[in-house]
Amino acid sequence: MTREKPKNLWLSRWGFILAATGSAVGLGNIWKFPYITGEYGGGAFVLMYLACILAIGIPVMMTEIALGRRGRGSPIDAIARVVRENNSNPLWKSVGLMAMLAGFMILCFYVVVAGWAFAYTWKMASGALAAPSVDALAKVFETHNASPWQLGGWSVLVALLTLWIVGKGVQAGVEKAFRWMMPGLALMLIVLVGYAWTSGSFSQGFAFLFTFDASKITGEALLAALGHAFFTLSLASGAILTYGSYIPDGQSIARTTFIVAIADTCVALLAGLAIFPVIFANGMDPSAGPGLIFMSLPLAFQQMPFGTVFGVLFFAMVSVAALTSAISMIEALVAYLNEKHGISRVKAAAGSGALLLVISLLAMLSFNLGAEWKLFGFTLFDGLDYLTSRWMMPLGGICMVILAGYCLRSEIMRDELGLAPAGYALWLFMVRYVSPVLILMVFLHALGWLGFDPIAQWYWIAGAIGALALLGELLAPRVRHELALR
Ligand code: TRP
Repeated sequence: MTREKPKNLWLSRWGFILAATGSAVGLGNIWKFPYITGEYGGGAFVLMYLACILAIGIPVMMTEIALGRRGRGSPIDAIARVVRENNSNPLWKSVGLMAMLAGFMILCFYVVVAGWAFAYTWKMASGALAAPSVDALAKVFETHNASPWQLGGWSVLVALLTLWIVGKGVQAGVEKAFRWMMPGLALMLIVLVGYAWTSGSFSQGFAFLFTFDASKITGEALLAALGHAFFTLSLASGAILTYGSYIPDGQSIARTTFIVAIADTCVALLAGLAIFPVIFANGMDPSAGPGLIFMSLPLAFQQMPFGTVFGVLFFAMVSVAALTSAISMIEALVAYLNEKHGISRVKAAAGSGALLLVISLLAMLSFNLGAEWKLFGFTLFDGLDYLTSRWMMPLGGICMVILAGYCLRSEIMRDELGLAPAGYALWLFMVRYVSPVLILMVFLHALGWLGFDPIAQWYWIAGAIGALALLGELLAPRVRHELALR
């Protein structure tokens, strides 16, 4: 069977790396990583998060990229082609459908959060954040959310910007935009860390992030770290798979994945280094929760020299990072409509954009007029978040590693990944045994069905991985076989 010819390729070797990094680096790194690190007490959480990136994030990301490049298309088409090549059940393509849906659903609430970042850039510049205390800033945040016109206006702006860039297409829009967005983002972060260096509390912030306190390792924190590793690398939502389908043959998937994962992790750590010293210098509580950035940082910015400039830069940076992530969430759907149904990218972006506008405006109303509109106890905003992160992403991730680890003929992935035998055997061991068990754990914990503490009773997990490896190698001795190839 001849392989699908690629239709769109990245302009350069850096195309995928820039775009995938743009997808991975977002509100997850700059807003969520610092606030959950604060909540779970610092260094121990950081260490667990790093371990999860290594044990799950990297193997799953390699799998997604390989599936995308092998199938050359949107998640549905790429997976359909790969399973056809393998004569497997065509129903596997529903994994692609679910991933695409998850990406779109995440976007519907992500534009609202991104809207906060855009609005705060403006508020910072216009002086609207010159409130005297954290309480006063909390009030600004509440007032902003209480107004459907304000909140909705900013959400619509984010949605339209996203659609405009996506509509222009991979080469013309996405890649060129990333070319200046990513270096700009890196530069702004370094400037902010530079300020934090002079803030007087840099060592305190540094110690908070990197001092390891074993008593803070709890099962709860591990699971939060695991879930965040998934979210921050944009896995199982179509984004990485679709971008992967534009990678030229011959480019190393493993190398590329490591670069993206390291860049994503560095941005999260830099964001932590920029934020925590400022928080400690101003005597704020690092575990203040999701409002950490929006309610407290403007106060800190007021106190620094050129604070308005730094504040505007900071929120502009968050906005840019959110935008590059948002673009990746809808790219899969646009690629699907374009390739499968021959709809032009502009029309596909406009059509899916109309739906996006309707749903995201309804989600935005969860903060004001629609606060009481609930289904199964969830507002639309919370429900979209819950459905995607608790159900669709873990399920999609586990399906992909099972497909790649158990169902595909070994030469397909080996050919696509192009690794040396030992590297391939390691990847295979991770996707067959380690990643599925760990993802299942997140999944069951989210449902409240885990029934044990995964840290104190870690031997259950080690046992599950061991038993699965033993069983797997007895029934289908692929890892041993791959090692023997050396
Ligand atoms: N990874 C991005 C962040 O850290 C968010 C993101 C982009 C995402 N695409 C995604 C999350 C797909 C889940 C699924 O903010």
